[in-house]
Amino acid sequence: MAVALVAASIVLFLLALKLYRRLRYRLPPGPRPWPVVGNLYDIAPVRFRCFAEWARTYGPIMSVWFGSTLNVVVSNSELAKEVLKDKDQQLADRHRSRSAAKFSRDGKDLIWADYGPHYVKVRKVCTLELFSPKRLEALRPIREDEVTAMVESIFRDCAEPGKSVVVKSYLAAVAFNNITRLAFGKRFVNSEGVMDEQGLEFKAIVANGLKLGASLAMAEHIPWLRWMFPLEEEAFAKHGARRDRLTKSIMDEHTAARSRAGGAAQQHFVDALLTLREQYDLSDDTIIGLLWDMITAGMDTTAISVEWAMAELVRHPRVQAKAQEELDRVVGSDRVMTESDFPALPYLQCVAKEALRLHPPTPLMLPHKAAADVKVGGYDVPRGSNLHVNVWAVARDPVVWKDPLEFRPERFLEEDVDMKGHDFRLLPFGAGRRVCPGAQLGINLVQSMLGHLLHHFNWTPPEGVKPEDIDMSENPGLVTFMRTPLQAVPTPRLPAHLYKRVAADV
Ligand code: HEM
Repeated sequence: MAVALVAASIVLFLLALKLYRRLRYRLPPGPRPWPVVGNLYDIAPVRFRCFAEWARTYGPIMSVWFGSTLNVVVSNSELAKEVLKDKDQQLADRHRSRSAAKFSRDGKDLIWADYGPHYVKVRKVCTLELFSPKRLEALRPIREDEVTAMVESIFRDCAEPGKSVVVKSYLAAVAFNNITRLAFGKRFVNSEGVMDEQGLEFKAIVANGLKLGASLAMAEHIPWLRWMFPLEEEAFAKHGARRDRLTKSIMDEHTAARSRAGGAAQQHFVDALLTLREQYDLSDDTIIGLLWDMITAGMDTTAISVEWAMAELVRHPRVQAKAQEELDRVVGSDRVMTESDFPALPYLQCVAKEALRLHPPTPLMLPHKAAADVKVGGYDVPRGSNLHVNVWAVARDPVVWKDPLEFRPERFLEEDVDMKGHDFRLLPFGAGRRVCPGAQLGINLVQSMLGHLLHHFNWTPPEGVKPEDIDMSENPGLVTFMRTPLQAVPTPRLPAHLYKRVAADV
């Protein structure tokens, strides 16, 4: 009897809540939500494709319910502009899941901070200090070291003609070494590919973080189910302490090195943050949070972008040959490409841009959260709702793109479209207050990896596979890896002495 009463009151409460919302707000249309779970179980695993499909029925602004949380999804460039420019300030908060809240110590970092004085301060540190053109330039030798190391290891592995390689494994190594060197000043892997103790600890912490995050996902959106999936306070505390221990030991090494060098700081992010600590009043939690933000946001995104670009280049030998012709003309065959060659390689830049258009690594960006009741597209978006911009759908919208599904880098020679947040048709890095602070670094790395891969090798599908048979579907997740990692056959095309790593001691 008591159980029936409780059940009846819950149902009544939910119905009343629904009625209240319907009367108070004019919400965007969307698929009918089920009681309690909302649309959670109707969403296909590859979310951005599912949302794009639903947008055909419900229009470019939609309500999707994750349990009892309203998620508004926008899918065209006009609405993207409204969210990321016109109403940007009210829509620049972040929803923190329970695990994100724990990892970020309630938003003491950048990625998970709500928009407010802390965010503005930390963002300033990023824009003026960490990602300043001067620092990007000072860290360039690291990037060039890592891309040449990649070329050397592919060359070593393709000694047997016709042998295919899993492209992602090389890209992931560049991304990993690059980001750990940039952030921590550490190459955890030696030239034989052996990882040191700190590196193993680093990897274990990343893996444990992923495991802890996944353990809570089930009950994230259904608050009253959470008792079934309690937050493992102890496990999170242990994880945090382990991460702090490793990061602090690296911070101490840098402080000691700086005092040995008479106060002269190196260019790595850890040095920058330690020397700016007083000027910006940065706590240990913020310094550690920022360093790990860069790892989280900057590692997979670049590797994913290049893997998709390479898949398109294997599928489109015409584009591959044209990019190689440009590289041969500009760089020639008695030296390797460097970042200073970029301005003379417009087609290579267009290839990178076209790949980011068709395959943005974060197709729904990172969700924003409304800090106040806001109107978007004439509908109400109540305070606390999450907003997703489907940048994947925007970049394939036939209303603003000619032949949107075609991989044709020339489109950007015909019309130069900005991709760093100024043109709302192309938003792989987002736009507005929360636009990716690492965009230029990401672009440099993607172009550099692509340039080296194409200058040094011809790429063909494995024997027996036709270009059109390459699986171009995505894995589910916040960042979208290819579902089937790309395999391709690299054939060297330059003199053998150009396949040596150019190591840099930075
Ligand atoms: C091709 C490479 C990359 C792509 C496509 C990319 C894309 C994005 C996107 C879409 C966002 C979310 C923007 C929003 O919420 O509105 C973002 C945020 C962010 N990205 Fe990137 N990113 C890339 C590389 C990097 C790199 C290399 C770093 C740093 C080393 C980085 C650091 C960050 C950080 C810290 C944020 C959070 C910004 C904030 O919340 O204010 N990203 N990125």
